[in-house]
Amino acid sequence: MSPRVSCSSIAILALVLQILILADARPRASLDHDHPSCLCTALQSCWPDPSAWDTFNSSIDGRLIEVLPPAAPCHESHFDEQACQIVREKWSSPFWRSDQPGAMQASNWEASGDQSCLISSPRNSSCSQGSVPVYAVNVSTPSHVQSAVKFASAKNIRLVIKNTGHDFFGKSTAAGSLSIWTHHMKNMSFHHDFVAKRCSVSPVSAVTVGAGVQWEELYQAVFKQGKVIVGAGGVTVGAAGGYPQAAGHSPISPAFGLAADNVLEYEVVTAAGDLVVANGCQNKELFWALRGGGGGTFGVVVSATHRTHPPLTNLAFAVYTINATDRSSFLDLLTNFAVIHPSLSEAGWSGYFLLSSQSLQLSRQTLLVLYILPNKDVSFAKSTLAPFLDYVEKHPKLQGNGSVVSLSSFQEYYSQFLCGGQNSCVNSNGSASPGALSSRLIPKSLFDSRKSVEQLSDALISILERYPASILGAFVAGGAVARPRDENAVNPAWRRALLLAIISSGWSDGASLEEQREVARNVSAANKLLIDLTPGSGTYINEADFNEPDWQQSFFGEHYPRLQAIKSKVDPSGLFRCHHCVGSEKWSDDLNCPRSSE
Ligand SMILES: Cc1cc2nc3c(=O)[nH]c(=O)nc-3n(C[C@H](O)[C@H](O)[C@H](O)COP(=O)(O)OP(=O)(O)OC[C@H]3O[C@@H](n4cnc5c(N)ncnc54)[C@H](O)[C@@H]3O)c2cc1C
Ligand SMILES: *[C@@H]1O[C@H](CO)[C@@H](O)[C@H](O)[C@H]1NC(C)=O
Ligand SMILES: *[C@@H]1O[C@H](CO)[C@@H](O)[C@H](O)[C@H]1NC(C)=O
Ligand SMILES: *[C@@H]1O[C@H](CO)[C@@H](O)[C@H](O)[C@H]1NC(C)=O
Ligand SMILES: *[C@@H]1O[C@H](CO)[C@@H](O)[C@H](O)[C@H]1NC(C)=O
Ligand SMILES: *[C@@H]1O[C@H](CO)[C@@H](O)[C@H](O)[C@H]1NC(C)=O
Ligand SMILES: *[C@@H]1O[C@H](CO)[C@@H](O)[C@H](O)[C@H]1NC(C)=O
Ligand SMILES: *[C@@H]1O[C@H](CO)[C@@H](O)[C@H](O)[C@H]1NC(C)=O
Ligand SMILES: *[C@@H]1O[C@H](CO)[C@@H](O)[C@H](O)[C@H]1NC(C)=O
Repeated sequence: MSPRVSCSSIAILALVLQILILADARPRASLDHDHPSCLCTALQSCWPDPSAWDTFNSSIDGRLIEVLPPAAPCHESHFDEQACQIVREKWSSPFWRSDQPGAMQASNWEASGDQSCLISSPRNSSCSQGSVPVYAVNVSTPSHVQSAVKFASAKNIRLVIKNTGHDFFGKSTAAGSLSIWTHHMKNMSFHHDFVAKRCSVSPVSAVTVGAGVQWEELYQAVFKQGKVIVGAGGVTVGAAGGYPQAAGHSPISPAFGLAADNVLEYEVVTAAGDLVVANGCQNKELFWALRGGGGGTFGVVVSATHRTHPPLTNLAFAVYTINATDRSSFLDLLTNFAVIHPSLSEAGWSGYFLLSSQSLQLSRQTLLVLYILPNKDVSFAKSTLAPFLDYVEKHPKLQGNGSVVSLSSFQEYYSQFLCGGQNSCVNSNGSASPGALSSRLIPKSLFDSRKSVEQLSDALISILERYPASILGAFVAGGAVARPRDENAVNPAWRRALLLAIISSGWSDGASLEEQREVARNVSAANKLLIDLTPGSGTYINEADFNEPDWQQSFFGEHYPRLQAIKSKVDPSGLFRCHHCVGSEKWSDDLNCPRSSE
């Protein structure tokens, strides 16, 4: 055993997290129905006139921005040599993308059907607005948010909320819309003794963050306080937006729960334009919904208060690469690996495994494991892996290498492995790239029988054989995630799961719509193999198939009726709309009109 993990495995985890990529050709936006029951978009006569926009702009301290597609400076109508050069350099930087009001993390969401503004196309080719909002409000205070909500509501215009643009359904943008851009709400304050307003509960340590704070910033600040926090593996994801509102899984969730389980309070601007506090003691139903019911649905969160935890020590970190020489030994390998997960979970392990990846040059019969075990020493960690590692060593058709090393803190894990060996992630440059994704929560009960574990392994291998896809196993459930299912709106399937299996497959910038649809169909077909093995389970709304069948049950399970009831109470007119969000079955595919009027 080497005291340090080899250089080549540093940055692997950062790369693994970048395997997550983006989804699907969305249905073409239709901008042509000028019907009174439809929302107004920018190409319609009902869109407010310039003087109305000017008046609105004055009411928000001049914070209205005209938004252009990020590649606009590289095309004739807005050509600017210097600006274009910067766009080219930064095109795949996730930080740069979150700094642009019009950019999504995966550029395919900036297109609407074949209407797009590509970086790869020549200067004289057209640059269309696509799905990029027409205006954004660069909000910095709750009152800016309130004004934007009231204006959109009064004018009946399509409204979206953009934080970082990571959403895998492209929900943070829409053609012809006004965007509330939360990115610059960067307030952060720590509490030693936080008690949610009007509650009488024991004080806990916590941090309150503005809606624009990203995990990279928050991790750094929390480490300075000598604490840890349940946050994303993708460090450019937002800390108060779509992540905690949908669940928010973390490599340390099995120790402390999902991010949604750790939110103590939200401040929210409602559809009526009111600024309210939601916690366990006031606006309780709204608070329940905002912990699992999904972003962009129940209101605009302006701040979230997360619980913080004491630091982790003696973190054991296991990195193993194991090759099989043929299908049957690979099947045997995956089965023997999967079958120990209930006992790994009981010991406190969590982390990620990866099957097949072009960017990591992993072959189709390689298993890469990157697991952590908080607050335990290396010898204990090794003893819990021994049954599996002994099996690998003795098997003539398996070749494996790797080690378990000791890290002194979560901060060390974070800087060495989530950020590729740097102290800060600000220089990491891979953003989500265009592609499609699907996933399934694998219930703990599946592991009760070796036969069903073998069927799972067979399904995973079949997926890799049939489709040019990668599979990321997020071993981030079990332990503290397996808590009472009605405490908040998180999909009950999370409470019963051990793993989230994520299937992804990409395409290159500028791929035809045909090709994009084929990749999306393949990723759905691949996921069907996992769905068939896990009846009654579900998936994670934030890392799901854009075309998820029976999405209400899959995303929300038995919580759906309660979520629908809350939605109709807090947003009766449906000001906040997004693809496969609670209540969205009422609206057309582009979400602008009632479904019946199509
Ligand atoms: C590279 C990468 C890594 C990821 N890693 C993880 C991970 O480790 N764990 C995990 O659980 N997920 C992960 N995700 C998924 C991530 O949780 C979702 O993409 C999430 O929706 C991002 O939220 P955001 O606010 O940052 O992004 P946005 O795209 O800006 O917003 C997402 C949704 O929330 C809404 N929203 C944003 N802000 C607000 C607000 N203030 N109030 C109300 N609604 C709001 C938006 O309208 C949109 O519907 C990852 C995604 C990517 C691309
Ligand atoms: C809003 O007002 C500010 C300040 O007057 C101005 O700089 C900005 O261009 C205006 N926005 C729009 C879209 O007109
Ligand atoms: C763009 O310029 C190239 C080379 O100058 C030319 O061949 C092409 O026809 C032009 N395309 C359009 C759409 O104008
Ligand atoms: C948005 O507002 C922030 C200050 O809150 C400012 O620093 C930034 O430049 C603004 N961005 C744009 C594009 O106007
Ligand atoms: C952030 O802090 C500033 C200055 O203290 C304040 O004006 C603003 O309202 C705060 N924003 C939020 C979202 O609390
Ligand atoms: C696995 O196979 C790849 C390519 O075939 C090879 O480069 C790598 O060294 C192998 N790893 C192990 C642990 O045998
Ligand atoms: C395993 O072996 C491969 C190829 O020989 C090497 O690239 C990799 O760094 C090794 N992994 C570990 C964890 O030592
Ligand atoms: C990240 O950017 C740096 C500097 O721009 C570049 O040298 C490096 O190759 C990039 N890394 C990746 C993985 O794209
Ligand atoms: C879709 O899957 C089929 C086989 O199942 C494969 O041949 C094809 O290449 C895949 N298409 C894309 C675009 O990935």
